[in-house]
Amino acid sequence: MLNIVIFGAPGSGKGTQSERIVAKYGLNHISTGEVLRGEIAAGTELGETAKRIIDKGQLIPDELMISILASKLDSLTSGNGVIFDGFPRTIAQAEALKAMLNERGQDVTAMIELDVPEDELMKRLLLRGQLSGRADDNEETIKKRLVVYNEQTSPLKEWYKNDGKHCYINGLGELDRIFDDIAAAIDSRM
Ligand code: AP5
Ligand code: MG
Repeated sequence: MLNIVIFGAPGSGKGTQSERIVAKYGLNHISTGEVLRGEIAAGTELGETAKRIIDKGQLIPDELMISILASKLDSLTSGNGVIFDGFPRTIAQAEALKAMLNERGQDVTAMIELDVPEDELMKRLLLRGQLSGRADDNEETIKKRLVVYNEQTSPLKEWYKNDGKHCYINGLGELDRIFDDIAAAIDSRM
């Protein structure tokens, strides 16, 4: 089983590159952001809670997020593994993911870090905000998301280096070149 964590700041290309990884390797895609936006669209209680937090650019509490991820993982019945997009975002989430996979006799195969400078992230997200209207793609919320990323999520790079899973990818440039670099990193760990 292939378990890939795709990692990076808001707008670094996690969702975009996940689609290509899914197509090449036959993986299931779990995007925690997509799961939460689905709950918001469906008007559930979880969606209402998530909306309040996402609109402020903050993180959903670990305990809640971990239980959502666990139930998503349990619901999968086929495929060659999973690409985790937007999870983990804290050390507690990384530890929980490792434990969940270990219980299944598995582990994370590779953590793919997409590195993109902040001015480019801001440009990409403001553009997407205009085109698709994602509610958290406005300048004020993007700035908060970047602060949260730097303070709470970025320490995971070190965590995954210590776990021997970290792969650095330059996430600035052509989509095809970035994908080729990702595929080479995955292939080297299979
Ligand atoms: P989430 O949905 O995960 O959002 P995010 O991490 O802020 O990242 P994005 O989805 O905005 O960007 P991306 O990296 O997927 O880039 P994309 O491919 O779209 O999370 C949203 C919120 O949910 C969080 O803020 C939090 O509140 C909550 N949440 C989610 N998971 C959580 C968790 N585990 N714990 C707690 N809370 C959680 O690309 C962005 C744009 O750039 C697109 O328009 C794309 O077309 C373009 N683009 C992509 N690649 C390139 C390129 N190479 N060159 C030019 N443009 C490009
Ligand atoms: Mg995304």
